[in-house]
Amino acid sequence: MSAGKKSFWEMDELRLVTGAMVILGGATGLLVVMPYLLLENVRPPVGLKPYTSDQLIGRQSYIANGCVYCHSQQPRDIKQAPDATRGWGRASVAADYAYDTPHLLGTMRTGPDLLNIGARQPSKDWQLGHLYQPRAYTPGSIMPSYPYLFELRQGAAKAGETVVNLPPGLTQPGQVVVAKPEALALVSYLLSLDRTYPALPPLPSMPVAPTPDKDKP
Ligand code: HEC
Repeated sequence: MSAGKKSFWEMDELRLVTGAMVILGGATGLLVVMPYLLLENVRPPVGLKPYTSDQLIGRQSYIANGCVYCHSQQPRDIKQAPDATRGWGRASVAADYAYDTPHLLGTMRTGPDLLNIGARQPSKDWQLGHLYQPRAYTPGSIMPSYPYLFELRQGAAKAGETVVNLPPGLTQPGQVVVAKPEALALVSYLLSLDRTYPALPPLPSMPVAPTPDKDKP
């Protein structure tokens, strides 16, 4: 081995560790510190209510049943996708997710975006029936049915139970479909998905273009 000066590219422990630290520091800055600074002033919009405990239970069941794998919750700007013309609502902003931990933005759109489904389809009967059998409402739908959230019962429902009003042909005469508490909670979560209030204007601290001063000579 030559005892000459080291080439620039030759590795030693110090360089390796320093390089790793620089990359880690850069990544932490970009992926942790910058998003934190950008979002720390985001406040919940006046039009957005916190979830009730029932809706939070429904949200857990949304996660557990894998709805997020087929449904996004992030209507996009018209420049990126025609979501507004699909009836999915205005482009969402960070404040719309103020109460969402973890957020359920989703990445797949096998089905429609659901961030505003509560406004688009506010019928509890429709939502329950669609979960029981999507194809009874949308012929050819590839959405799975969730029969285990319901009880198919021979005879009448008990007092206080919610009977699902299904389109004809799904039950035999004398049978009723009763929604289990999980189904009711899930639907109350779906109905709470409504971000149709106007998006917040940008924060005052955000840079705005200077207004040209017309009065000046
Ligand atoms: C395999 C993919 C898939 C999964 C998983 C899935 N869906 Fe869907 N969903 C779809 C498709 C496709 C449609 C459009 C056809 C239809 O209306 O059934 C849809 C439609 C919907 C609609 C009506 C949307 C509208 O704009 O009319 C709602 C509400 C819905 N799904 C809720 C759910 C919930 C809640 C879950 C979880 C329990 C779920 N979906 C799981 C694919 C899926």
